[in-house]
Amino acid sequence: MRIFNQINDLQSVLQAERKRTRSIGFVPTMGALHEGHLELMRRAKAENELLVASVFVNPIQFNNSIDLEKYPRNLQDDIRLLESVACDVLFNPSVEEMYPEPVTTQYSFGSLEEVMEGAFRPGHFNGVAVVVHKLFEIVQPDKAYFGEKDFQQLAIIRELVRQYSLPVDIVACPTIREADGLAMSSRNQRLLPAERVIAPKIYQILKKGASLRNVLSPKEMRIWVRTQLEKIDGCMIDYVEVADDIELQPIEHWNQSTGARLFVALFLGQVRLIDNIRIF
Ligand code: PAJ
Repeated sequence: MRIFNQINDLQSVLQAERKRTRSIGFVPTMGALHEGHLELMRRAKAENELLVASVFVNPIQFNNSIDLEKYPRNLQDDIRLLESVACDVLFNPSVEEMYPEPVTTQYSFGSLEEVMEGAFRPGHFNGVAVVVHKLFEIVQPDKAYFGEKDFQQLAIIRELVRQYSLPVDIVACPTIREADGLAMSSRNQRLLPAERVIAPKIYQILKKGASLRNVLSPKEMRIWVRTQLEKIDGCMIDYVEVADDIELQPIEHWNQSTGARLFVALFLGQVRLIDNIRIF
């Protein structure tokens, strides 16, 4: 695996590669890699001739300085894991390399960014859009891979690609879970042992909640899920939402959309976790 810290070096190598290879697959990450990330890598590797990954903890998408400071970083482990999936190129820039000047770009994603993560983490999706747009310009991938774990982020990226006519296919990959159902996340490392034991309840409640679709209205489902989550020790809910799976707007009747998902964001102790599940 070739590792680059500088944009120029990466670009000159990719320019040469582009002449030789049929397609470049790209997986942007913030590192602290786990099996969820690796599944994206395997898919990208299988579908493209060249796999490019990035590891960059993007400061401008954090709206909480403690979250940024505590974000797990272990580049040596990440390199080993990337090599295990035969990643060809790793881009690992510094903050100065990515942002030599203060960032002022403002995107507008309309109602997509007004709900859920957009509402609870002001500026978060703008920071995500800035870094992903820049990474797309640098890498110029044919396909880029994102996880449904961050379902709203996926919708934002699709909207970014649409608004700017970016020549990249966005590929959505299903959420990878631990054997006990907990959605894999770099932040899981920060859970205390007792929190880790109860964390799988989140997915159990989501699954049970989604299965009640024939007996509950969307509003009743939100209330049911919220009530169950509140019973978890140390759980502080940001939101429980039932929304359509395209615009991600809350729905009040099941026949309002062709697909719906159940979304949750909560703190377990100090750690903020998100998860979502398909209802239909
Ligand atoms: P990060 O949280 O490192 O996630 C990188 C990619 O891995 C995202 O597309 C995310 O949805 C996916 N992913 C994370 N956990 C997953 C799981 N359990 N199953 C499937 N996919 C999973 O998301 C980001 O970084 C950043 O916002 C980024 C897009 C890199 C921009 O900074």
